[in-house]
Amino acid sequence: MSPDTIEKQIAKLREQIHYHNHRYYVLADPVISDAAYDKLMRRLQALEAEHPELITPDSPTQRVGAPPVEGFPKVRHPAPILSLASAHDADGVREWFTRISKLLPQGVSPDDLAFTVEPKFDGLTVVLRYENGAFVQGTTRGDGETGEDITANIRTIKSLPLRIPVQSFDIPPPPPSNLVVRGEAFIPLDKFKEMNRRQLEAGEKTFANPRNAAAGTLRQLDPGIPATRPLHLYVYSIVAIEGEAPETQWETLAYLRALGFPVADDVIRLESLASVIDYCQDWMSRRETLNYEVDGAVIKIDDQAIRAALGVVGKDPRGALAFKFPPRQETTRLLDVEVQVGRVGTLTPRAVLEPVEIGGVTVRHASLHNFEDVARKDVRIGDMVIVQRAGDVIPYVVGPIADLRSGDERPIEPPAHCPSCGEPAVHPEGQVAYYCVNAACPAQVKARVEHWASWMDIEGFGAKAAELFVREKLLHDVGDFYSLDRKAILALEGYAAKSADNLLAQIEASKTRPLARVLAGLGIRGVGETIAQLLSDHYHSLDALASAPEEEIEAIEGMGPLTTAAIIEWFEHAPNRAVIEKLRRAGLRLAEEAKPPAAHKKKPLEGLLFVITGTLPSLSRKEAKSLIEEQGGRVTGSVSSKTDYLLLGESPGSKLRQAQQRGVPTIDEATLLSMIEDEKKESEQSQLALEL
Ligand code: IVH
Repeated sequence: MSPDTIEKQIAKLREQIHYHNHRYYVLADPVISDAAYDKLMRRLQALEAEHPELITPDSPTQRVGAPPVEGFPKVRHPAPILSLASAHDADGVREWFTRISKLLPQGVSPDDLAFTVEPKFDGLTVVLRYENGAFVQGTTRGDGETGEDITANIRTIKSLPLRIPVQSFDIPPPPPSNLVVRGEAFIPLDKFKEMNRRQLEAGEKTFANPRNAAAGTLRQLDPGIPATRPLHLYVYSIVAIEGEAPETQWETLAYLRALGFPVADDVIRLESLASVIDYCQDWMSRRETLNYEVDGAVIKIDDQAIRAALGVVGKDPRGALAFKFPPRQETTRLLDVEVQVGRVGTLTPRAVLEPVEIGGVTVRHASLHNFEDVARKDVRIGDMVIVQRAGDVIPYVVGPIADLRSGDERPIEPPAHCPSCGEPAVHPEGQVAYYCVNAACPAQVKARVEHWASWMDIEGFGAKAAELFVREKLLHDVGDFYSLDRKAILALEGYAAKSADNLLAQIEASKTRPLARVLAGLGIRGVGETIAQLLSDHYHSLDALASAPEEEIEAIEGMGPLTTAAIIEWFEHAPNRAVIEKLRRAGLRLAEEAKPPAAHKKKPLEGLLFVITGTLPSLSRKEAKSLIEEQGGRVTGSVSSKTDYLLLGESPGSKLRQAQQRGVPTIDEATLLSMIEDEKKESEQSQLALEL
């Protein structure tokens, strides 16, 4: 192949990978399978390995691979990275508005002002510099004048575009020759939970909260570490740009989005202060539903010129304000520490607290992670402690307030015995956890059957039932579910004919759950939904997994050595093999037909939401709607933040203005038709690339 063709191939592959990255990590809407993506990546890696002279820093293969550094050099920001003044309630917002109303430029009335309201992301500020479309530098905020160069670490954030614009089927704006944007890097809450669980499993220390985890990750001297952490990014402002900047904040967000940056959907443009205040208050309750931490909302005057004219006090621009939410941390007294026995016998400390309200929820118990953590933080019974709660992350004790001690506090000792069965606790060399190794320990059995019932969708069988059935010796392991005797159930307190039959029907139905569910339900350490699916896809049968060598399991992409070891250990344990035999006899699905490779062909408009306005040149509205639906898209009657495109005809109605306000792109009939064509070509091309 001529060098020219190789260069072109590399360029094409990079463009495709950037595009699919954007679909996956920014839009959360992938259009190819993971396997197809991996193939593109491997092809690019192979070509680059043959031609290392063609590797550029913005190649998708370069997210990881930078060597560790000694320290972070200081970098001067092109413009000050300002901070924000804050208000804690509606009155505070009104006072801010009164203050700025008097300072508006001549001819601007306070009634004319429009505002954007954005989430105030609780992460770490990052400043990102692009030259001719390539990401070249990422820095921390530092003191606002100079920050630290953490480029190699920031490059590992998968939602960060390494090249802008990312090709999409909109016609993206050309990249400015120089662009510096500001955003916030953070770890989503679900990923944070998962990450702490893994840290715990690996015997590493856990992170106090997602913010600390993000900050700690970005300050690692070895970029190999951030590459394995689930960092995400939202971008919200332009710090410097060559050429003209958008005139409003709303347009800035739409522009950044069009270039391919991750921009939060949860933003709104409002035209009165009253609606801003309502929205901020509403936000406080929506906070619970978000998968990222916010510590408030940011109100910005939409018009950039007015915002600039209002100037800065100290480090705070007058034209923007943070509406701060009440903290998610409170202090309360640690009354006692209970030891809980987990499914695999792990003995974990749980704080019993003087009840305290945190963000509208009364908290009575909190996690203390493990005994090593307790010792390191020197938490004592009777201490005043800081408790943190975020989203559905279990509340946890951040640490004690040592200054408030009276001297009567008592140290917390690791357990010498299992609180459930009384067997001696075991603390394996080099591990953080303490264990009860008695597999017949009632607390463990209870946790295991409860876990099984939840994975196998045995409805109505929760903690209470688990406790009762184990106490009454009807269940010794999860295999016993399938030989439960109706009479024995009827003899239990709280069970009558109807409830017993209902339970038996639920148990019967659970026999048809797929292999991945069975695997996850067994409660092998580290085998949750994702790993169970991975194993099921790889082995298709429990027996194949049970007889697989350790190296083979560990070699599966996505598997780690700890979970692999836990799997091997689990199958070696005779009582566990007996459980499998019980399940086999009961007729559960321990093997699965191998699925044919995903043959699902994507339709060109799949996943896209359209709104139609005005009269189209050749199609009637009805025809346009059927065409879109035929090609996999959907059509709704009103513009919302979910709308992908406004299909625009002659004499449009108010939908056009709504779309413009929300930054929804508009397309005409011809563009719609070419999107269908282009997308068809595109999928053929990516098919081609796969076959290269
Ligand atoms: S605007 C002049 N918007 O909150 C513009 N800041 O002190 C000032 N933050 O650490 C910042 N989300 O990085 C803005 N949507 C958002 C934000 C946001 C989080 C951070 C910011 C800074 C702190 C404000």
